[in-house]
Amino acid sequence: MSDAGTTHEDLERFLAEHHLVGAGLRREGRAWPRTGNTAAHWSWEGIYKGLMRSGEIVTVGPNGMTGMRSVTGIEARKFPIWMNAQILMPGERTQAHRNLRSETRLVCEAPKEAIFVCEYESYPMERGDVVISPAWTFHDHWNLGSTPAIWIDGYDNGYNPNVNVNERMPDDAPYEEIRKPAGYGQRTLGLTRPIPTEPPFPLPPMRYPWKDTEAALAAMREAEESDPYEGILIMLASPVDGGPTLPTIAWQAQLLSARQKTLPHRHNSTSFYFGFEGEGAIVIEGERLEWHKGDIFAVPAWKWHHHENAKNSDSILFSIDDWPAMKKLGFYMKEEAKAF
Ligand SMILES: [Fe+2]
Ligand SMILES: [Fe+2]
Repeated sequence: MSDAGTTHEDLERFLAEHHLVGAGLRREGRAWPRTGNTAAHWSWEGIYKGLMRSGEIVTVGPNGMTGMRSVTGIEARKFPIWMNAQILMPGERTQAHRNLRSETRLVCEAPKEAIFVCEYESYPMERGDVVISPAWTFHDHWNLGSTPAIWIDGYDNGYNPNVNVNERMPDDAPYEEIRKPAGYGQRTLGLTRPIPTEPPFPLPPMRYPWKDTEAALAAMREAEESDPYEGILIMLASPVDGGPTLPTIAWQAQLLSARQKTLPHRHNSTSFYFGFEGEGAIVIEGERLEWHKGDIFAVPAWKWHHHENAKNSDSILFSIDDWPAMKKLGFYMKEEAKAF
């Protein structure tokens, strides 16, 4: 394995060895895509080192070589939804835009001064927060702190991979003006809210603070509401209708207790996972994938799979899944094994 090095070529080689490609870097990786049910697995070591090195040699923002700085799994884009990882260095701000696909984020680490800006409102970046920029909402990211901000992006393809309507700010302004009061979304999307127009378009930006997710998992754990196929699983509900996060993507958090082994199931939706706490294994059609904190991995549609937590401590996974779209369109199916 090579080092992430000091040049674009070194970084490209390092990323390719970890089955990753970087925005603004050459797309054709030197490593061939892998095959097999567990091929879509990218280690935190590759993601983190690749991001940190990208932060030093790839410039972003209105005058940079790319609008954002990210690393993406070579195999990730063949899925209908996918995750990548992004880094914003101290002082940087990405260029604002809006487009016709959903952009969603899970914060890995960030200084307290770093913010997402969406529809003229700022959202803090606390570890474990999920922040949603629905289709056609203006968004940019701003790191006002002194350490890098790193997050995971979850995307859909806008259901037309060939066309993505993409628009800059009026008058070509590079950034959004933050003109909404702090916590506007949090204060107006709860049980007290303005009378909505139907159907809402675009959907409002949404933030799911980690402390709320953690509290929900803890409450269900106390109530012993564990599912044999999922452990303790919650979705981050849409504040608009109480359904899944977005029409295309459900964000989910999942707690697997110490020594827990789930039963196998399969479904024709796609799941992308991020290892948030602890470690574990997922077995996909007999192939074992060991994951560690920070890893990203995917479960392809219609493959039997189950989780194992062999440790004496809990593990927590975040995931995105396209079951909302599949169900709505009448294509969703799930099968559950009664035993191994
Ligand atoms: Fe974007
Ligand atoms: Fe599953």
